[in-house]
Amino acid sequence: MMMMRVYVSRDAGAVAVGADDVALALEQVASKRGIAIETIRTGSRGLYWLEPMVEIATPKGRVAFGPVGTSDIASLVDAFASEGAHPLRLGISEDIPWLKRQTRLTFARCGVIDPRSLNDFRAHGGYKGLERALMLTSDEILADVTASGLRGRGGAGFPTGIKWKTVAQAGADRKFIVCNADEGDSGTFADRMIMEGDPFVMIEGMTIAGIAIGAAKGYIYIRSEYPHAVAAVNAAIAAARAGGTLGTCIAGSRHSFDLEVRVGAGAYVCGEETSLLESLEGRRGLVRAKPPLPAHRGLFGKPTVINNALSFAAIPFILANGAKAYADFGMARSRGTMPIQLAGNVKYGGLFETAFGVTLGELVDDIGGGTLTGRPVRAVQVGGPLGAYFPRALFDTPFDYEAFAAHDGLIGHGGVVVFDDSVDMAKQARFAMEFCAIESCGKCTPCRIGSTRGIETIDKIRRGERVSESLALIEDLCNTMKFGSLCALGGFTPYPVLSALKHFREDFGPVPGSFEATE
Ligand SMILES: Cc1cc2nc3c(=O)[nH]c(=O)nc-3n(C[C@H](O)[C@H](O)[C@H](O)COP(=O)(O)O)c2cc1C
Ligand code: SF4
Repeated sequence: MMMMRVYVSRDAGAVAVGADDVALALEQVASKRGIAIETIRTGSRGLYWLEPMVEIATPKGRVAFGPVGTSDIASLVDAFASEGAHPLRLGISEDIPWLKRQTRLTFARCGVIDPRSLNDFRAHGGYKGLERALMLTSDEILADVTASGLRGRGGAGFPTGIKWKTVAQAGADRKFIVCNADEGDSGTFADRMIMEGDPFVMIEGMTIAGIAIGAAKGYIYIRSEYPHAVAAVNAAIAAARAGGTLGTCIAGSRHSFDLEVRVGAGAYVCGEETSLLESLEGRRGLVRAKPPLPAHRGLFGKPTVINNALSFAAIPFILANGAKAYADFGMARSRGTMPIQLAGNVKYGGLFETAFGVTLGELVDDIGGGTLTGRPVRAVQVGGPLGAYFPRALFDTPFDYEAFAAHDGLIGHGGVVVFDDSVDMAKQARFAMEFCAIESCGKCTPCRIGSTRGIETIDKIRRGERVSESLALIEDLCNTMKFGSLCALGGFTPYPVLSALKHFREDFGPVPGSFEATE
């Protein structure tokens, strides 16, 4: 009997466009034709415009087809049986140019393995980092993480090794590891993808962190909008416990480490680390004043390592292959790779992991293929709702923390949202203030009140009322928010606003004093 092994993603992004129906139809058609079929539900390869993507095992490797609809299944199975051509054939999966151009260190297994199978994870190099960590002292692990140059992937880009060392050196009876998987930034989905496609890698990274700093318990805080990720991570935790890599005496060592998933309630500010800790402790997500830093007094008042999901997921590669293997990628002080997420009005949207240093223009025009609408790209917002808008004139900016900061921008969590020439940038500036007003935790005045005054003032500018005065007021207000806010929600909202004003001034009406001005 003929045997067919197929791979279909169970990633939420693929399921949303029909992956479950495609998997079912494949089984039904194969069984009608008398073909034995094994369906493996993987994560996504991250080429979202090709989802649902179906891969079929062949002696030459997996061959991909996409985007596949249920009406394509009969011809797909025929093509498989006769080894014939098919219009949706994309070729050997690994050779698809968009995938081949990437440097997948963190996402190496995503889209390849069955995320529910510990054996599959191990068969693809999983837990090699933990094995090595168990042979090292705490100082040696910390030295490796520091030498790798890894910086936090959640937004602030703080060096991970220094954070871990601070917690390791803090004296306390208990310490905690917390994974920030709140992923609230617009246009981002990498945390979700890794949790759904390779949850063990994040769990392995957290376990290594626990061993390094002396914590026996960790929490994973996942936003409630990610039910598939919650299910995948919980299944992986159960499998790791059963496999002896979580719980007491992990992998036969003297170390114990266990994990628990907590589901957030849907506030953007709950991604801010201290607000997240409040939420984990069962209170409203209100930002805490710093100091004390979470590294000194974090969860339940104990020293806590809190890192983004991608920061933890980068750790196993570093431990398994050595700090240099990671640090060899990248530019300047941005070492290693960044899982960049291309979103918004873009032709080829998805996850593109690459070494730091790729330019914004290369990402948007070349890798992203320009806009989906086919109109010219006008603006790109990088780094979520608090990130600056970049015009074409800045497209030669390399993806690097400092290079973006030099243009009053940020890389954040690696989200790149593309807009075509129909965008109204004054409206986008207003939206930044509105977002801040809605999501503000309310603890400090510049953010709570300033954002609402910001909306009103931008509205005045858009109506052409007292434009010079209102523009001066916006600058003043932005300075107050930048320097007077307790956290980056109020502190960074000025960046999208001021970048829109600086680079797209024409969208805010005539310049006062100019010929066109009506004042
Ligand atoms: C308003 C706000 C929202 C944030 N949201 C997230 C988030 O969703 N995920 C995340 O990892 N970090 C988020 N951060 C950054 C965290 O406060 C913190 O820097 C991060 O969890 C540290 O981990 P890292 O060093 O691995 O990046 C946010 C910060 C602010 C100010
Ligand atoms: S800046 Fe905004 S979100 Fe942050 S503490 Fe102040 S009020 Fe809360």
